[in-house]
Amino acid sequence: MKTVKAEEQPFLTDVQELRSRARASIQDGAVTPAYKGDVHQAIRILQSVLATEIVCVLRYTMNAVAAAGISSDSVKEEFDEHAKEEQGHMRLVAERINQLGGTPNFNPEGLASRSASQYVQGANLVEMIKENLVAERIACEHYRELIRFFGDSDPTTRVMMERILVNEEEHANDMHDLLVAHEGRPMLPAN
Ligand SMILES: [Fe+2]
Ligand SMILES: [Fe+2]
Repeated sequence: MKTVKAEEQPFLTDVQELRSRARASIQDGAVTPAYKGDVHQAIRILQSVLATEIVCVLRYTMNAVAAAGISSDSVKEEFDEHAKEEQGHMRLVAERINQLGGTPNFNPEGLASRSASQYVQGANLVEMIKENLVAERIACEHYRELIRFFGDSDPTTRVMMERILVNEEEHANDMHDLLVAHEGRPMLPAN
């Protein structure tokens, strides 16, 4: 009996300590004391990624609508698909900001200046594809840097950015293929 009791005591203490620690850290959400990064800096960076993704959603959505007007169904479908995927990225980043204890900034005011990529309205289909290719390349370059930045200090955010980067590289590739297929061909009736 005595040996059992001796074994139980530290176990009970551990459980109680774990419970009180868990209660004390509830307000910190997913950020445990093991988080090695600078949470405030991580949130600031992710707000800029969020703005970049929102601008991508807006640009692709506008392009999908405009491309439909100039009767190019296959390109419209591509733009639509990208708009949906950018929306997925936007959501992932917003959720991560929330997990880190921040409030995702969806304020349209100042959105363009928070974003790493620009909102440029192409005059015709080829221009739209070119602008998207530029934006995707900027995003890829920026996200590669961020993956190195988060490194081992915040593996959860790093893995999320790696998943997004895979998708952005596909987007850049898709835009490049479309450009090769459409370059030099008049796309608007006015041309
Ligand atoms: Fe994206
Ligand atoms: Fe993209």
